[in-house]
Amino acid sequence: MQSCHLFLFLLLLPGMWADPQAEPQFLQLLHTSVFTISSADLSMVTLLEDVAILALDPGNWSIHFHWPWASQATAEGDAEKIKSHLKFFLRNFIQYVHKTAQQVQLDYPFVIQIRAGCVLHPNNTSRGFMDVGEGGRDLIVFNVERQHWEPQRPSPLAELISYGLTSKKSISLLLVHLLSIFCPSYMLTLCNYGRADLERQETPLATVFVRTPSPAQLLLVCRVTGFYPRSISVAWLRDGKEVPPGPALNTTAILPNADLTYQLRSVLAVFPHDRHSYACRVRHRSLGTRSLLIPWENLSTAPTISIIIITVLLLVAIAFGGVVWWWKCRKCAEATWETQEFTI
Ligand SMILES: *[C@@H]1O[C@H](CO)[C@@H](O)[C@H](O)[C@H]1NC(C)=O
Ligand SMILES: *[C@@H]1O[C@H](CO)[C@@H](O)[C@H](O)[C@H]1NC(C)=O
Ligand SMILES: *[C@@H]1O[C@H](CO)[C@@H](O)[C@H](O)[C@H]1NC(C)=O
Repeated sequence: MQSCHLFLFLLLLPGMWADPQAEPQFLQLLHTSVFTISSADLSMVTLLEDVAILALDPGNWSIHFHWPWASQATAEGDAEKIKSHLKFFLRNFIQYVHKTAQQVQLDYPFVIQIRAGCVLHPNNTSRGFMDVGEGGRDLIVFNVERQHWEPQRPSPLAELISYGLTSKKSISLLLVHLLSIFCPSYMLTLCNYGRADLERQETPLATVFVRTPSPAQLLLVCRVTGFYPRSISVAWLRDGKEVPPGPALNTTAILPNADLTYQLRSVLAVFPHDRHSYACRVRHRSLGTRSLLIPWENLSTAPTISIIIITVLLLVAIAFGGVVWWWKCRKCAEATWETQEFTI
């Protein structure tokens, strides 16, 4: 979750914000319902970026808030009104789906999924969206600007629902209001109330190690984990210069850890003894303007060092041998002179 307050600030001073790092923020509701002839099991969760805000209790259709501030934010404005009408909406939705399923003779059981919400861009514009899927595939999409539903596959079900829903102007107007006006304003209220939790920062932990898939190749692995928020930059430096993207460089997707932090790996293939120095560089919001720099201790320099040591030892030995020889020869020369003296 990247600083929501930026958007509040932005509303106060439009046009004054220009952070190249700012990313769009999503508030979305994810709904899944499993329909059988006699029943419907509903589940629903609302996420602000990757933070779960609230969920529907499947047993009694009451809302469960994951944070005290989410409940406070919802008590303000339209959210409370929507919450009080929720059971009514859900009953109508179930009735409508059953009726439509019978009309097109859809086989039970089936699964309906809905994703609805809005994205708030750093330039202070927002866009609402709502997609409906059936059986794990796209079915229809609501076009917010044109206020109509568009089928996403050629099927009697998709066409019947798009046509039926588009003709209900009151539903379209309500959706436009919810997605384009209510959603961004609820997002800002949530950000305002939950700032401390939403702006949580965890520092990345990085380690560098090596894999040797073959004698001709080394894989330098930089493992970065435990960071939050999700956005991060990980690069390999060769002799201090960033290695550009290419076949030798592989970086995994950013994967979640169980404790709502993230991890990734960046793998660089190099030749053994290539005489370059390598380091993994990590930049993350939690580090401020600093970067983590983890050098790789190039073990292939070890033979070079031993060669140097052996050479030095050899030179020392030769020099020593030379000195001893010279000393001996000086002695034997003296002895020769002495002998010569005696003989003379
Ligand atoms: C709904 O059920 C949950 C348990 O499944 C319970 O904790 C909660 O208090 C119930 N809510 C209402 C409004 O009855
Ligand atoms: C704001 O940013 C979004 C996404 O980058 C872009 O699609 C949209 O056109 C922008 N709107 C304005 C008014 O600049
Ligand atoms: C990177 O991934 C591609 C495709 O998965 C693979 O062919 C290549 O060998 C990988 N490179 C490294 C350095 O792991």
